[in-house]
Amino acid sequence: MYKLIKPILFKMDPEQAHGRMMRALKIVQKHPTLLSMIDRIFHYKNDMLAQDVAGIHFTNPVGLAAGFDKSCEVPKALQYSGFGALELGGITPKPQPGNPKPRMYRLPEDRALINRMGFNNIGMNKALSNLRRHSYDLPIGINVGVNKMTPYEERYQDYIKVLDTFKNDATFFTINISSPNTANLQNFHDKDEFSMLTKAIKDYRENHELSQPIFLKLTSDLELEGFKHILDPIVDTFDGVVLANTTQQRDGLQSDNRSEGGGLSGRPLFERNRDLVRWAYQQTKGTFPIIATGGIFSAEDAIEMMRNGASLVQIYSSLVYEGPGLTAKINKDIVQYLKQHGYHNVSELIGLDA
Ligand SMILES: Cc1cc2nc3c(=O)[nH]c(=O)nc-3n(C[C@H](O)[C@H](O)[C@H](O)COP(=O)(O)O)c2cc1C
Repeated sequence: MYKLIKPILFKMDPEQAHGRMMRALKIVQKHPTLLSMIDRIFHYKNDMLAQDVAGIHFTNPVGLAAGFDKSCEVPKALQYSGFGALELGGITPKPQPGNPKPRMYRLPEDRALINRMGFNNIGMNKALSNLRRHSYDLPIGINVGVNKMTPYEERYQDYIKVLDTFKNDATFFTINISSPNTANLQNFHDKDEFSMLTKAIKDYRENHELSQPIFLKLTSDLELEGFKHILDPIVDTFDGVVLANTTQQRDGLQSDNRSEGGGLSGRPLFERNRDLVRWAYQQTKGTFPIIATGGIFSAEDAIEMMRNGASLVQIYSSLVYEGPGLTAKINKDIVQYLKQHGYHNVSELIGLDA
């Protein structure tokens, strides 16, 4: 069906097409019969895909990456769409409109997207009310960002405000220091800035009861030398790492939109992010959970990320190109692979090639 709809969607501006999808999901979310219909079509279930990571039970390893549902508008509909987890947001303390439009571009020849959304979201309080409209039976992650207008030296407190607001509702958090679309946010990758952030998070955890795991999402542009400097504090402060967000590199791209500013996602990210995953897995000797994102279009890609050390994967750009049936297809093909190779559970793949 997506093959029929895709040409129509691809004639629209990408953000407008996304808006249409969101409106459709809002309609689905209101009707239990539609929810059970999409569950039947898009939700592939098999116990071989289930595992516990960072103390959370995931019924399958394919999660929705952050940025699709930035204000927790359609989590109920997404729950029935076959994902093993949802990462919602990025959410900031105050509402903000994000960057001027257009701010999202397709690069079809490269199976990629460029976005410079700039944390457009309705703010943490309204996003929380949206989330509370429903109940969920899959892990709900909150991707945490900072407001553009927050004074530079106070920005780490924005993360704490969002953690505190969602402390009773999220299953896990992801601290996003890697968006290229908020000026200087990536400075948190520098050792000194990073230690301010880790101190704030540790202090918060010591003084409040926050039992949920907190993951950290790094940029794809991180050099291994820089990663080395912050790896120990990452392991010491966080419960896992998401590798990795978009890149600002534009090497080898074919599409007309390649010189647009913002973060590049999709297929061109795959090898860079896989190498970050492998390096982090080796350095931590497989003891630290890794969630892989970036250019995962198939079960083969998901398996490669897992064999290189990821426990879980997340997808976004591939959904734009392949449609909502992709999650079930990846899960189904992973099970086929497990059976063919004599594995009993998806967790047996983690780190095999690292
Ligand atoms: C339009 C768009 C918005 C995004 N917004 C966020 C965000 O708010 N927070 C975040 O951590 N990542 C965000 N991302 C990055 C994705 O979560 C993901 O890490 C990245 O796109 C790589 O995965 P992919 O190649 O499967 O898309 C966004 C990506 C896109 C395309």
